[in-house]
Amino acid sequence: MTPETQALLEAGEAAVAPPLAKASTLPPAFYTAPEIFALESERVFRRHWVAVGRASEIPHPGDRFRIDVAGEPLLIVRGKAGEVRALSAVCRHRWMLLGSGAESGGTISCPYHKWTYALDGSLMAAPLMDKAEGFEHENCSLPSFGCEVWNGFIFVNLGGDAAPLAQSLAPLAEEFAPWKMDEMEIVGRIEFDQPYNWKVLVDNFMEAYHHFAIHPETFEPNYPAAISRAEETNAPYAALRMPHRDNGLSDTLFKPLDGIPDHARRGFSVFNVYPSMLLAVLADSVVWYRMEIGGVDRFKLTVYLLAHPSSLDVPDVETLKTFLREGTFAVHMEDIVACDGVQKGLQSATAAPGRLSHLEGAIHQHQKWLMAELARP
Ligand code: FES
Ligand SMILES: [Fe+2]
Repeated sequence: MTPETQALLEAGEAAVAPPLAKASTLPPAFYTAPEIFALESERVFRRHWVAVGRASEIPHPGDRFRIDVAGEPLLIVRGKAGEVRALSAVCRHRWMLLGSGAESGGTISCPYHKWTYALDGSLMAAPLMDKAEGFEHENCSLPSFGCEVWNGFIFVNLGGDAAPLAQSLAPLAEEFAPWKMDEMEIVGRIEFDQPYNWKVLVDNFMEAYHHFAIHPETFEPNYPAAISRAEETNAPYAALRMPHRDNGLSDTLFKPLDGIPDHARRGFSVFNVYPSMLLAVLADSVVWYRMEIGGVDRFKLTVYLLAHPSSLDVPDVETLKTFLREGTFAVHMEDIVACDGVQKGLQSATAAPGRLSHLEGAIHQHQKWLMAELARP
């Protein structure tokens, strides 16, 4: 680590170490410096579980999709016996990428010279390699990475030694149980190319302080900034509660499942499962912001809209799904204005750590967690 990076880490620690009432945000370089981004890739995104998709996107053996995690090209594949695997998407011949987007088929064939792999990554065939001395198929399997399905979400752990999710997310699993998320279906998906650092969106998602300014008509009337509340957790996630004004019932589009607790109908909650899995849990649906981070100042955002099949048993459900998609899009367009502005401001010579409101506790918790991870060799 260079002395400059070491100095940045010390400045970051100094900003986040005090209690919330005395704390500041991380220094702007944490959002803009390539060396911090490289450290995040190595110590955060390669070490921890990262959510990459929904198990229902690959329902049948041979179904798969491509995604990058920490710059590592992956193929998320449903195997013959129904198991979900995270395989390297880099051909063992001369590194061509295996596949793009969503595909299906009993084998995985490289588009360059047609080396062909089984769904478990083993090399089955390599044309015209018979004169390559000592060439052995067994030594050319695609590497595989840690992979788990939790609540219907597929997670990948590149490092392979993160604790099992069931263990680290047990308290969250208990809270989420009434939603039956593993049975939820995708009722909409919206994609954006976002030209800003991933933490700009995490910060935005995890505070409702901006509701009266950025969402005066969409959120503030029912979910006022002033009564939002970040929960103190000592867990690998942050939680922000957004009660409905005057303890009123939230309007729902679909039918909430029986068993959704009363307090969840009088508002909603958002979560950041560290490092960056952003979830909004509403009485009748779940919204997941999946980030595919491509660089210090860019990521692909896919917004997944999820609902339980029995919630969708309502008249004119297709119109309601469209309504949900359009509403979610409109709200995110409001947030994009703020995120774009922040990314530009972060690059100013005048930008410095900013003081936090008491409503921004979830940002503070995330940044403390991040600093601890970045400091861990
Ligand atoms: S690079 Fe894949 S077969 Fe040549
Ligand atoms: Fe917002």
